[in-house]
Amino acid sequence: MKRHEIHVRLDDSIATTSPVSRSYKIHVGDEILQDIGALVQNDNVQRAVVVSDQSINESHGRTVTRSLEAVSITVDRLTIPPGETSKSLTEAERLWNEFARLEIDRKTAILAVGGGVVGDLTGFVAATFSRGLQVWQVPTTLVAQVDSAIGGKTGVNLPAGKNLVGAFWQPRGVVADINTLKSLPDREYVSGLAEVVKYGMILDADFFQWLENNAISIRGREKESLNHLVRRSAELKTFVVERDEREVTGLRACLNYGHTFAHAFETTAGYGTLLHGEAVSLGMMAAVRLAYSLDLLDQTVVERQQQLLETLGLPVGTPVLNDIATDDFLRIMARDKKTVGGNLRFVLPDKIGHVEIIDHIDHMLVTSAIKTICYAN
Ligand SMILES: NC(=O)c1ccc[n+]([C@@H]2O[C@H](COP(=O)([O-])OP(=O)(O)OC[C@H]3O[C@@H](n4cnc5c(N)ncnc54)[C@H](O)[C@@H]3O)[C@@H](O)[C@H]2O)c1
Ligand SMILES: [Zn+2]
Repeated sequence: MKRHEIHVRLDDSIATTSPVSRSYKIHVGDEILQDIGALVQNDNVQRAVVVSDQSINESHGRTVTRSLEAVSITVDRLTIPPGETSKSLTEAERLWNEFARLEIDRKTAILAVGGGVVGDLTGFVAATFSRGLQVWQVPTTLVAQVDSAIGGKTGVNLPAGKNLVGAFWQPRGVVADINTLKSLPDREYVSGLAEVVKYGMILDADFFQWLENNAISIRGREKESLNHLVRRSAELKTFVVERDEREVTGLRACLNYGHTFAHAFETTAGYGTLLHGEAVSLGMMAAVRLAYSLDLLDQTVVERQQQLLETLGLPVGTPVLNDIATDDFLRIMARDKKTVGGNLRFVLPDKIGHVEIIDHIDHMLVTSAIKTICYAN
């Protein structure tokens, strides 16, 4: 059955202009994967390659392929194993070789159908093969729809660290179908909501309040809520990226709210113990408490953020970090690439919807903030 009640019209999409590359549109809607063929065809494309991961290749990968074939675009399909380990140079090299075997040229459209792993890897391979192929981002996880598919950061991991090799490569278009979120495991879905709360905290008090008012239906993945949530998050990320695509002015750094803590939590807990969004939720709690201890904001801000995260099912405290010495957190945070000269620097809110960058903070206050999220079992 095909339903189109909340179908998004083409002119209903978010337009963005990258100062470095060309402008493109972000389409958000329900059951719009079926219409992707028409969008790609508008670009005079006759040939396409759909890259997805093995767990969604038969579902969303197939829907996209059928839609392209319905408008007479010739399609080849490539898959990668699911999971973060696929964001590797080995997998990139395999895709480069597949592209060569298929004799892909610059007129071929590449479609990255999947979560952030597929998007980051495929975007990077497209950016580098033949000095750049056009890529469409077709995000199918919440993380990808509200974050990774927007902004043009692509790349792979090295043994020495995440995302160490990559390129800025803006897509031809982004197609985010909220219908794909139905099949996401609950923990993955909830984890993605952390970045959404982040957008409200750093940029948009009205959106934060909308999240508070609709937390139950968001938790239940109701379509109207999802549609607004993904659209507004995409707009907010776009707003930031348009003004600071390559992290020059410092604006893009506001997206790092909660993340300096989160990276330290992810590393100390051991990769895989906490999902990224769970670590971000904990990181935002440490950050908002740090802001409170610096007198930047009222207690009500701390309470509202905590309440919203909890209602959405995100952690605000955890026993998994209990046994870790506070010095370990500080050492890891000092190594964070956003740190300048060992001086810890944090993006901290001064009210809901606004952040500042604060540095030269007393380390004692930082460790006290961390202790507040380390719960006993
Ligand atoms: N480029 C950026 O700006 C940016 C921003 C944030 C995150 N990232 C990157 O994104 C990656 C994380 O992305 P992710 O959370 O989407 O992980 P992911 O791509 O690994 O997807 C998570 C899991 O969900 C499965 N999946 C995908 N779509 C599904 C669906 N509709 N239904 C059911 N299962 C589905 C995948 O097969 C995978 O097993 C990380 O590598 C991170 O570094 C990049
Ligand atoms: Zn993040």
